[in-house]
Amino acid sequence: MDKVVLIVFVTPLLLFFILFYRRITWLRLIKSKHMKNQLPLGTLGWPFVGETIEFISCAYSDHPESFMDKRRNMYGKVFKSHIFGSPTIVSTDAEVNKFILQSDAKAFVPSYPKSLTELMGKSSILLINGSLQRRIHGLVGAFFKSQQLKVQITREMQNYVQQSMTNWKEDQPVYIQDETKNIAFQVLVKALISLDPGEEMELLKKHFQEFMSGLMSLPINLPGTKLHQSLQAKKKMVKLMLRTIESRRECGISKVPKDVVDVLLNDQNDRLTDELIADNMIDMMIPGEDSVPVLMTLAVKYLSECPTALQQLREENVKLKKLKDQLGEPLNWSDYLSLPFTQTVITETLRIGNVIIGVMRKAMKDVEIKGYFIPKGWCVLAYFRSIHLDDKNYDKPYQFNPWRWQDKDTSTCNFTPFGGGQRLCPGLDLARLEASIFLHHLVTQFRWYAEEDTIVNFPTVRMKRRMPILVRRVES
Ligand code: HEM
Ligand SMILES: *[C@@H]1O[C@H](CO)[C@@H](O)[C@H](O)[C@H]1NC(C)=O
Ligand SMILES: *[C@@H]1O[C@H](CO)[C@@H](O)[C@H](O)[C@H]1NC(C)=O
Repeated sequence: MDKVVLIVFVTPLLLFFILFYRRITWLRLIKSKHMKNQLPLGTLGWPFVGETIEFISCAYSDHPESFMDKRRNMYGKVFKSHIFGSPTIVSTDAEVNKFILQSDAKAFVPSYPKSLTELMGKSSILLINGSLQRRIHGLVGAFFKSQQLKVQITREMQNYVQQSMTNWKEDQPVYIQDETKNIAFQVLVKALISLDPGEEMELLKKHFQEFMSGLMSLPINLPGTKLHQSLQAKKKMVKLMLRTIESRRECGISKVPKDVVDVLLNDQNDRLTDELIADNMIDMMIPGEDSVPVLMTLAVKYLSECPTALQQLREENVKLKKLKDQLGEPLNWSDYLSLPFTQTVITETLRIGNVIIGVMRKAMKDVEIKGYFIPKGWCVLAYFRSIHLDDKNYDKPYQFNPWRWQDKDTSTCNFTPFGGGQRLCPGLDLARLEASIFLHHLVTQFRWYAEEDTIVNFPTVRMKRRMPILVRRVES
C-alpha cells in the first residue's frame, strides 16, 4: 500500500516540482537574457548586519578600499553587498559612477543613514530632490562662482590665515588640523551669513560642534542621547539664523548679495521660506566645514613627505609674492588660482586624500547601467576612492606625485573629488581658493618639521594627532 502511495502520488508530485522548478529557472534565464535584469554578483553577508562590520573594519584601516578590492577581484567592479542596514550595489566603475551622478531624481535620490537625515531635516539641500534642489543649487553655485564674492572672500581669507599664522609660536607645535579648522569655519560663516569673528561666532561654533558630534550616532531621539543633544544644538543655531534673517528683512535686503542668505532672500520663489533658509544655512555648513580643513591638512602632510614638491611649490609662490610686492599690490584671487604647480598639488591631494570617499543614492525605479541591474529601492554607493587609487588610471597610485597633473585635464570621470552632475559641489572654487591662499602664506613665511602622525579614514578623514608641526619663520 505504502509503495503504491509513493508511486501514485509522491512521484508525480516530485516530477511536477522538478519540472516546475526547471521551468522557473528556464524562464528566468530567458527573461534575464532578454531583459538583462540580473543583479551584480556579490554576497549579502550575515542577516541584518550584512557586511557592515567588515566594511567598517576596513574603513578604519589605512586601506579602506581593501573591502572593495577584495570584492572587485571576485565579482568585478560593480557588486552587491549589504551595508548600513540596506542591500547596496557598490560601484567602483568610473562610467557607472558617472551615470549615477548625472541621473536625476527620477532614477536616484540621495540616501544617508537615519541619524543624519533626522539631523538635517526634510528640506535640507543635501536631501531634497527635483526643482527646489536645482533652484537652491543654482543660486548658491552661481554666487560662489561670482567675481564679486571671490574678490571679497579672498580678502577675508587672507586676513583669517594671516591672523592665525601671526599667533604661531616657534617653540611649541602648531596643530595644522586645528588651525585650518578654525580658519575654514570663519570663512564659511562669513560666506553664508557675513558673521565676523567674535562672541557670537564662538557660540555658533560651539553649537555646531555639538551638532556634528551626533551625525554618526545611533538614530534614537530620547533625552540624553547624542542625537537629542545634536537636535537641541541645531535648534539654537536655527534661532540664531532666523534672527539674522529677520534683521535683514527689517533693514531691507541689498540687491547686490554679500552672502548666501542675501542670495536666497532675494529669490522670489515662495517655497524658500525663512525656516527653510535658516535650516539650509546650517546644512550647508556640514559639507563645507570639515572637508576644506582636511584638504589643507593633508596637503601639508604630503608636502612634508615630498621635499621636491615642497621646494617647487615654494619657488612658485615666492616668485609671485616678490612680483606683487614690487607692484605694491596684494595677491588677488586669480593670482592664486593661476599658480600652476600649486593647483597640481591641490589636485593631487584631492586624488590621493579622498576627503569624500563617494556618494550614496537610492534607486527610485529599476535602473540598468552598462548591463548591471539595480532594482528599485536598493541603495547605491558610488565609490570614488577605488577609482582615484586604481593603477589602471594612475601610475603608482599611492605615490604623491603632483607632476602627473601637468598638462593633464582634471575633467575626466576618473577624477571626481567634488562629485558631478546636478549635485556637483557648489563650494568647489571656494575650496580650491582657500587651500591656495593657505599654502601660499604657509610656504612663503615658514619652514617646518612635521612630527610623526597618521591618517585616520573613518568616519571622516582626519589626522590622528591633528598634524603637529614645528615651525620656523623665514624671510622670503
Ligand atoms: C575639499 C572640499 C570639498 C569637497 C571634497 C566636497 C565634496 C563634495 C561632494 C563629493 C559633493 C556631492 C555630494 C552628492 O553628490 O551627494 C558635494 C556637495 C555639496 N557641497 Fe561640497 N565639497 C567640498 C567643499 C565644500 C564647501 C567649501 C562648500 C561650501 C558651503 C560645499 C558645499 C556643498 C553643498 C551645499 C553640496 C550639496 C549640493 C547639492 O546636493 O545640490 N562643499 N561636495
Ligand atoms: C523628492 O521630493 C519630493 C518633494 O519635492 C518628496 O515628496 C519626495 O519624498 C522626495 N523623494 C525622496 C525619495 O526623497
Ligand atoms: C589680478 O592682478 C593681476 C595683476 O597682477 C591682473 O592682471 C588681474 O587682472 C587681476 N585679476 C583680478 C580678478 O582682479
